[in-house]
Amino acid sequence: MPAFVTAQPGGIENLTAIHLEGVTRRFGDVAAVDGISLDFPAGSFTALLGPSGCGKTTLLRLIAGFETPSEGRVLFGEQLMADATWQVPPEKRGIGVVFQSYALWPHMDVAGNVAYPLKTRGAERLQIETRVDTVLDIVGLTGFRQRRIEELSGGQRQRVALARCLVADTGVILFDEPLANLDVHLRASMVEVFRDIHHRTGATIVYVTHDQVEALALADRIAVMDRGRVLQIGAPSDIYRAPADEKVSGFVGRGSIVSGIAKAVENATATVEIAGLDFPARCRGAAKGPVKVLLRPEGLSLAEPGIAATVCSTTYRGPVHEVRLKLVSSGEDLLVDCREAPVLGETVSVAVSDAWIVPGS
Ligand SMILES: Nc1ncnc2c1ncn2[C@@H]1O[C@H](COP(=O)(O)OP(=O)(O)O)[C@@H](O)[C@H]1O
Ligand SMILES: [Mg+2]
Repeated sequence: MPAFVTAQPGGIENLTAIHLEGVTRRFGDVAAVDGISLDFPAGSFTALLGPSGCGKTTLLRLIAGFETPSEGRVLFGEQLMADATWQVPPEKRGIGVVFQSYALWPHMDVAGNVAYPLKTRGAERLQIETRVDTVLDIVGLTGFRQRRIEELSGGQRQRVALARCLVADTGVILFDEPLANLDVHLRASMVEVFRDIHHRTGATIVYVTHDQVEALALADRIAVMDRGRVLQIGAPSDIYRAPADEKVSGFVGRGSIVSGIAKAVENATATVEIAGLDFPARCRGAAKGPVKVLLRPEGLSLAEPGIAATVCSTTYRGPVHEVRLKLVSSGEDLLVDCREAPVLGETVSVAVSDAWIVPGS
């Protein structure tokens, strides 16, 4: 698998929307990607989020052209890129790709690695120099031109791979878990770099990750995937606040799901009874009867009036204690953040200020 692909000179210009129409990719009996229809607007930054094996990489490879669809179509703007019978090769699609393993040439210096895609397409020397300086500046490696790859840290190598992907100025940039090999601190610092890349290039970015924190921080849209399908697509705050089902709520953010009984609904807010007490809960449509209610830690507090729960464990997460509780009435779990840790085994009162009725529950 090539580590990157460069744009064709005069090829597809920037501002490329990507359209997937009923795309399926089978490996034997397994549908790694199962009938996905998804639009990526030009200039959008979409994270594909889901557990290992759910088809994220396969979907990215279908967009890149390293895989052919078994069914369906891939389009860039109006242009057909692939269907089951025909496809545009990756090097003609005008995409930049960065994988988890960066595959740099160790014998070349930083500038040599970054300039490579431009050299292979015969760009002028001065143009190459200027462009290399620009992208090294974007990734924060100004002054590293002459460094050998072996002399760089993992984080710096990843920045070189990013610079090499940016140098060709493509309309589509695809990332497959680019931060997976970096430690937590480096990841945090790279979030800024990715955001900057998005703002400066205006490219349509598709970013594969199994890390929900990364997806929430980076993308302007998240597509949550499971078993080759997209469960929900939306803004990070929508996915977090109003997950489409129990699976999505499990993938994104902390929280717990408890049983309740929905009564009256008005203005997308239901009155829901949990353990004999009524609370308001946001909902979609007409929720009535037994429902599952998602409770995030920030929507709960230890206060009266509330539901009785027993303190099971506390974990200091600085500045708050993450407290696990069990509802006295049903034995269901709850998660609350507290400034002061309550006493283990004590029975406390949990007040609900925000809740979401999980659709279809
Ligand atoms: N080349 C392949 N041959 C056979 N099975 C594959 C191939 N690539 C992926 N798969 C299978 O497709 C499913 C999705 O894989 P992948 O797209 O790599 O998931 P993810 O990137 O979300 O971890 C998995 O079950 C995987 O084993
Ligand atoms: Mg993968």
